[in-house]
Amino acid sequence: MRFRHLISIEDLSRDDILHILRKAERFEDVARGLKKLKVLEGKILANLFFEPSTRTRMSFETAMKRLGGEVINMTAQEASSIAKGETLADTVRVISKYVDVIVIRHPLEGSARFASEHSEVPVINAGDGAGQHPTQTLLDLYTIMKECGRIEGLKIALMGDLKYSRTVHSLIKALNMFNNEIYLISPEGLRLPEEFLEEVKAEEVNLNDVIEEIDVLYVTRIQKERFPDEEEYRKVAGSYRITAKTLERAKDNLIVMHPLPRVDEIDVDVDKTKHAKYFDQAFYGVPVRMAILHEVLI
Ligand code: CP
Repeated sequence: MRFRHLISIEDLSRDDILHILRKAERFEDVARGLKKLKVLEGKILANLFFEPSTRTRMSFETAMKRLGGEVINMTAQEASSIAKGETLADTVRVISKYVDVIVIRHPLEGSARFASEHSEVPVINAGDGAGQHPTQTLLDLYTIMKECGRIEGLKIALMGDLKYSRTVHSLIKALNMFNNEIYLISPEGLRLPEEFLEEVKAEEVNLNDVIEEIDVLYVTRIQKERFPDEEEYRKVAGSYRITAKTLERAKDNLIVMHPLPRVDEIDVDVDKTKHAKYFDQAFYGVPVRMAILHEVLI
């Protein structure tokens, strides 16, 4: 086992990341249901989701089941003892006595690290507020590897809500580890926080100026739920949108990615273009999460 918990992408070295991506590739046929493998038989995963999720929760569940393991879910706080005032620390302490691995999503930054300090079993961060989403980063890197053939030396534009998007906060650090050229495209008010620019090399640009040269366009939704008030959200809502026309000058092999869900930032007319890879990206979450589970459980 190369790591016990997976809380931040910085818990992993470059070699760890490459090791997980290679392992995910070996699991792809199992993820597609073409081969059977029961290496996690007898293991149980607990999903603790204190925020909505479709992809992360269900792909972890699929990954575990495809490898022969089982899953228990705690999604509705009103149906658990948290509604009676039980703390997150006690909740995790108890659940870690029932299962072999915990996957947690929580609105508070730092909550997954806190959970790991009270758990007897590995904890995987499935998103902590505007903090990190490391398993999304691994599947993003996997998507780039599969679709671009490599994960280094690429020109990659991160577009949208760079202030609150945890997927960007994790991904930018990993892209930097692999010597990519990073461009930032965001409306005023949604810029990447300064602290990231102290650590990673990235340049603020306009999409029009780089559309002909970029290899990856990674678009994010405005994270409405993280805004302190509705008025601040209204100022930026609908301020950017990618359409098929936006991509007319793009390189043939440009890929458009999005962690999903999308709201209105990618028009559905992009779905039919050769550039759209966001639904494949969502699938890649299964083999990548299989590799992560295999890594922490075996
Ligand atoms: N990309 C992602 O985290 O999606 P969900 O919120 O549906 O899990």
